[in-house]
Amino acid sequence: MNDTILNFVNIDKVFSSEGIDFTALQNINLKIKKGEFIGLSGKSGSGKTTLLNVAGLIDPPTRGDLFIKNINTKNITDNELSLIRAREIGFIFQTFNLLPLLSALENVEYPLMILNLSEEERIQRAHLALKKVGLENFTHHRPSQLSGGQRQRVAFARAIVKDPTLILADEPTANLDTKTSEEVFELLVRLQEDLKVTVMLCSHDNDLISRTHRQIKITDGQITGEVIK
Ligand SMILES: Nc1ncnc2c1ncn2[C@@H]1O[C@H](COP(=O)(O)OP(=O)(O)O)[C@@H](O)[C@H]1O
Ligand SMILES: [Mg+2]
Repeated sequence: MNDTILNFVNIDKVFSSEGIDFTALQNINLKIKKGEFIGLSGKSGSGKTTLLNVAGLIDPPTRGDLFIKNINTKNITDNELSLIRAREIGFIFQTFNLLPLLSALENVEYPLMILNLSEEERIQRAHLALKKVGLENFTHHRPSQLSGGQRQRVAFARAIVKDPTLILADEPTANLDTKTSEEVFELLVRLQEDLKVTVMLCSHDNDLISRTHRQIKITDGQITGEVIK
Protein backbone atom coordinates (compact mmCIF):
# COMPACT_ATOMS: atom_id res chain seq x y z
CA MET A 1 0.00 0.00 0.00
CA ASN A 2 1.22 3.46 -0.84
CA ASP A 3 0.80 5.66 2.20
CA THR A 4 2.10 8.91 0.68
CA ILE A 5 -0.53 11.61 1.06
CA LEU A 6 1.27 14.55 -0.46
CA ASN A 7 4.19 14.58 -2.81
CA PHE A 8 5.87 17.83 -3.83
CA VAL A 9 8.06 17.34 -6.91
CA ASN A 10 10.38 20.20 -7.91
CA ILE A 11 7.86 22.80 -6.81
CA ASP A 12 8.41 26.53 -7.23
CA LYS A 13 5.98 29.23 -6.23
CA VAL A 14 6.52 32.62 -7.80
CA PHE A 15 4.45 35.68 -6.95
CA SER A 16 4.34 38.37 -9.58
CA SER A 17 3.26 41.88 -8.91
CA GLU A 18 3.80 44.99 -11.00
CA GLY A 19 6.13 43.12 -13.33
CA ILE A 20 8.41 41.93 -10.53
CA ASP A 21 8.71 38.23 -9.75
CA PHE A 22 9.35 36.99 -6.25
CA THR A 23 10.25 33.35 -5.74
CA ALA A 24 8.64 32.33 -2.44
CA LEU A 25 9.31 28.60 -2.83
CA GLN A 26 12.17 27.11 -4.77
CA ASN A 27 12.62 23.50 -5.81
CA ILE A 28 10.62 21.92 -3.01
CA ASN A 29 10.80 18.12 -2.96
CA LEU A 30 8.90 16.61 -0.07
CA LYS A 31 6.92 13.45 0.53
CA ILE A 32 4.41 13.37 3.36
CA LYS A 33 3.09 10.09 4.64
CA LYS A 34 -0.13 9.21 6.39
CA GLY A 35 -0.01 9.85 10.13
CA GLU A 36 3.13 12.01 10.15
CA PHE A 37 3.39 14.98 12.51
CA ILE A 38 5.49 17.51 10.65
CA GLY A 39 6.84 20.78 11.99
CA LEU A 40 7.90 23.47 9.55
CA SER A 41 10.26 26.01 11.02
CA GLY A 42 11.76 29.11 9.51
CA LYS A 43 11.99 32.83 9.98
CA SER A 44 9.14 35.15 9.16
CA GLY A 45 9.01 35.49 5.36
CA SER A 46 10.82 32.20 4.72
CA GLY A 47 7.82 30.66 2.90
CA LYS A 48 6.04 28.56 5.56
CA THR A 49 2.55 29.89 4.86
CA THR A 50 3.12 29.66 1.12
CA LEU A 51 4.09 26.00 1.52
CA LEU A 52 0.97 25.27 3.59
CA ASN A 53 -1.21 27.05 1.03
CA VAL A 54 0.24 24.91 -1.73
CA ALA A 55 -0.24 21.77 0.41
CA GLY A 56 -3.82 22.85 1.13
CA LEU A 57 -4.66 23.20 -2.57
CA ILE A 58 -5.35 26.89 -2.00
CA ASP A 59 -2.50 28.18 -4.15
CA PRO A 60 -1.29 26.22 -7.19
CA PRO A 61 2.45 25.78 -7.70
CA THR A 62 4.03 27.89 -10.45
CA ARG A 63 6.28 25.02 -11.55
CA GLY A 64 6.55 21.38 -10.62
CA ASP A 65 3.96 18.82 -9.62
CA LEU A 66 1.91 18.34 -6.48
CA PHE A 67 0.40 14.91 -6.00
CA ILE A 68 -2.33 14.32 -3.44
CA LYS A 69 -2.86 10.60 -2.83
CA ASN A 70 -1.17 9.93 -6.19
CA ILE A 71 -3.41 12.33 -8.10
CA ASN A 72 -1.50 15.01 -9.95
CA THR A 73 -3.33 18.21 -8.98
CA LYS A 74 -2.51 19.61 -12.43
CA ASN A 75 -4.78 17.04 -14.04
CA ILE A 76 -7.99 17.76 -12.17
CA THR A 77 -10.50 20.60 -12.25
CA ASP A 78 -10.88 23.37 -9.68
CA ASN A 79 -14.17 21.79 -8.59
CA GLU A 80 -12.47 18.48 -7.95
CA LEU A 81 -9.72 20.25 -6.03
CA SER A 82 -12.33 22.04 -3.89
CA LEU A 83 -14.03 18.76 -3.12
CA ILE A 84 -10.76 17.11 -2.07
CA ARG A 85 -10.05 20.14 0.11
CA ALA A 86 -13.51 19.98 1.66
CA ARG A 87 -13.30 16.27 2.43
CA GLU A 88 -9.67 15.72 3.30
CA ILE A 89 -8.07 18.88 4.62
CA GLY A 90 -8.65 20.79 7.86
CA PHE A 91 -7.15 24.25 8.32
CA ILE A 92 -6.15 25.98 11.55
CA PHE A 93 -4.99 29.61 11.50
CA GLN A 94 -3.18 32.01 13.79
CA THR A 95 -6.22 34.28 14.03
CA PHE A 96 -8.75 31.44 14.41
CA ASN A 97 -10.90 32.69 11.48
CA LEU A 98 -14.24 31.87 13.10
CA LEU A 99 -17.46 33.37 11.79
CA PRO A 100 -18.47 35.92 14.47
CA LEU A 101 -22.24 35.63 14.09
CA LEU A 102 -22.29 31.84 14.36
CA SER A 103 -22.21 29.85 17.60
CA ALA A 104 -19.34 27.45 18.32
CA LEU A 105 -21.55 24.57 17.15
CA GLU A 106 -22.52 26.35 13.92
CA ASN A 107 -18.89 27.26 13.21
CA VAL A 108 -17.92 23.61 13.56
CA GLU A 109 -20.87 22.42 11.48
CA TYR A 110 -20.12 24.91 8.70
CA PRO A 111 -17.46 22.95 6.74
CA LEU A 112 -19.82 19.97 6.60
CA MET A 113 -22.41 21.97 4.62
CA ILE A 114 -20.69 21.22 1.32
CA LEU A 115 -20.66 17.48 2.05
CA ASN A 116 -23.68 15.35 1.46
CA LEU A 117 -24.80 14.83 5.08
CA SER A 118 -28.17 15.19 6.79
CA GLU A 119 -28.60 18.07 9.24
CA GLU A 120 -28.91 15.56 12.06
CA GLU A 121 -25.58 13.96 11.18
CA ARG A 122 -23.89 17.35 10.81
CA ILE A 123 -25.04 18.43 14.26
CA GLN A 124 -24.11 15.12 15.82
CA ARG A 125 -20.62 15.29 14.34
CA ALA A 126 -20.18 18.93 15.40
CA HIS A 127 -21.15 18.04 18.99
CA LEU A 128 -18.69 15.15 19.02
CA ALA A 129 -15.86 17.33 17.65
CA LEU A 130 -16.52 19.99 20.30
CA LYS A 131 -16.44 17.28 22.95
CA LYS A 132 -13.04 16.10 21.70
CA VAL A 133 -11.63 19.58 22.30
CA GLY A 134 -13.29 19.91 25.72
CA LEU A 135 -15.91 22.47 24.73
CA GLU A 136 -19.10 20.47 25.13
CA ASN A 137 -20.45 23.11 27.50
CA PHE A 138 -19.83 26.02 25.12
CA THR A 139 -21.74 24.93 22.04
CA HIS A 140 -24.03 27.97 21.96
CA HIS A 141 -21.39 30.57 22.72
CA ARG A 142 -20.34 32.93 19.98
CA PRO A 143 -16.61 33.54 19.38
CA SER A 144 -16.77 36.92 21.16
CA GLN A 145 -17.96 35.11 24.30
CA LEU A 146 -14.97 32.78 24.31
CA SER A 147 -11.32 33.24 25.34
CA GLY A 148 -8.52 33.04 22.77
CA GLY A 149 -7.69 29.48 23.77
CA GLN A 150 -11.35 28.45 23.55
CA ARG A 151 -11.67 30.08 20.12
CA GLN A 152 -8.68 28.11 18.88
CA ARG A 153 -10.26 24.93 20.30
CA VAL A 154 -13.40 25.67 18.28
CA ALA A 155 -11.16 26.07 15.23
CA PHE A 156 -9.56 22.69 16.05
CA ALA A 157 -13.03 21.13 16.26
CA ARG A 158 -13.90 22.70 12.90
CA ALA A 159 -10.73 21.17 11.42
CA ILE A 160 -11.34 17.65 12.76
CA VAL A 161 -15.12 17.47 12.25
CA LYS A 162 -14.81 16.21 8.67
CA ASP A 163 -12.45 13.45 9.79
CA PRO A 164 -9.69 14.81 7.54
CA THR A 165 -6.58 13.03 6.28
CA LEU A 166 -4.51 16.17 6.67
CA ILE A 167 -4.53 19.08 9.12
CA LEU A 168 -2.62 22.23 8.21
CA ALA A 169 -1.91 24.48 11.17
CA ASP A 170 -0.37 27.88 10.45
CA GLU A 171 1.14 29.41 13.61
CA PRO A 172 -1.85 28.23 15.69
CA THR A 173 -0.44 29.41 19.02
CA ALA A 174 1.11 32.72 17.94
CA ASN A 175 -1.83 34.81 19.22
CA LEU A 176 -2.03 33.08 22.61
CA ASP A 177 -0.28 33.67 25.93
CA THR A 178 2.41 31.18 26.96
CA LYS A 179 0.21 29.02 29.19
CA THR A 180 -2.68 28.86 26.72
CA SER A 181 -0.26 28.25 23.90
CA GLU A 182 1.10 25.20 25.74
CA GLU A 183 -2.43 23.87 26.38
CA VAL A 184 -3.46 24.34 22.76
CA PHE A 185 -0.26 22.69 21.52
CA GLU A 186 -0.83 19.73 23.85
CA LEU A 187 -4.34 19.40 22.43
CA LEU A 188 -2.89 19.31 18.92
CA VAL A 189 -0.44 16.58 19.98
CA ARG A 190 -3.26 14.55 21.55
CA LEU A 191 -5.60 14.92 18.56
CA GLN A 192 -2.80 13.93 16.18
CA GLU A 193 -2.14 10.78 18.21
CA ASP A 194 -5.77 9.85 18.82
CA LEU A 195 -7.04 10.49 15.30
CA LYS A 196 -3.82 9.34 13.59
CA VAL A 197 -4.22 12.30 11.31
CA THR A 198 -1.34 13.80 9.34
CA VAL A 199 -0.45 17.23 10.70
CA MET A 200 1.70 19.93 9.14
CA LEU A 201 2.33 22.60 11.72
CA CYS A 202 4.26 25.72 10.95
CA SER A 203 5.67 27.96 13.60
CA HIS A 204 8.59 30.29 14.17
CA ASP A 205 8.69 28.87 17.74
CA ASN A 206 11.53 26.32 17.61
CA ASP A 207 10.55 24.87 20.97
CA LEU A 208 7.17 23.75 19.60
CA ILE A 209 8.68 22.53 16.35
CA SER A 210 11.22 20.41 18.26
CA ARG A 211 8.30 18.45 19.74
CA THR A 212 6.96 17.32 16.35
CA HIS A 213 8.12 14.04 14.82
CA ARG A 214 9.67 15.32 11.61
CA GLN A 215 11.11 18.79 11.54
CA ILE A 216 11.67 20.61 8.29
CA LYS A 217 13.51 23.88 8.12
CA ILE A 218 12.77 26.45 5.46
CA THR A 219 15.18 29.22 4.55
CA ASP A 220 14.39 31.73 1.79
CA GLY A 221 11.86 29.37 0.21
CA GLN A 222 14.07 26.30 0.22
CA ILE A 223 14.23 23.25 2.45
CA THR A 224 17.55 23.56 4.24
CA GLY A 225 17.30 20.94 6.93
CA GLU A 226 15.37 17.96 8.20
CA VAL A 227 15.36 16.12 11.52
CA ILE A 228 13.39 12.93 12.11
CA LYS A 229 12.75 11.91 15.71
N1 LIG B 1 0.41 36.87 -2.41
C1 LIG B 1 1.69 37.24 -2.35
N2 LIG B 1 2.19 38.13 -3.24
C2 LIG B 1 3.49 38.50 -3.20
N3 LIG B 1 4.39 38.05 -2.31
C3 LIG B 1 3.96 37.17 -1.41
C4 LIG B 1 2.59 36.72 -1.37
N4 LIG B 1 2.46 35.83 -0.34
C5 LIG B 1 3.68 35.74 0.23
N5 LIG B 1 4.57 36.54 -0.40
C6 LIG B 1 6.00 36.68 -0.07
O1 LIG B 1 6.58 35.39 -0.01
C7 LIG B 1 7.50 35.30 1.07
C8 LIG B 1 7.10 34.15 1.98
O2 LIG B 1 5.90 34.50 2.66
P1 LIG B 1 5.19 33.52 3.67
O3 LIG B 1 4.99 32.21 3.03
O4 LIG B 1 3.99 34.22 4.17
O5 LIG B 1 6.29 33.38 4.81
P2 LIG B 1 6.16 32.89 6.33
O6 LIG B 1 4.82 32.24 6.51
O7 LIG B 1 7.32 31.95 6.52
O8 LIG B 1 6.31 34.11 7.18
C9 LIG B 1 7.49 36.65 1.77
O9 LIG B 1 8.59 37.40 1.31
C10 LIG B 1 6.19 37.27 1.31
O10 LIG B 1 6.29 38.66 1.27
MG1 LIG C 1 3.29 32.67 7.78
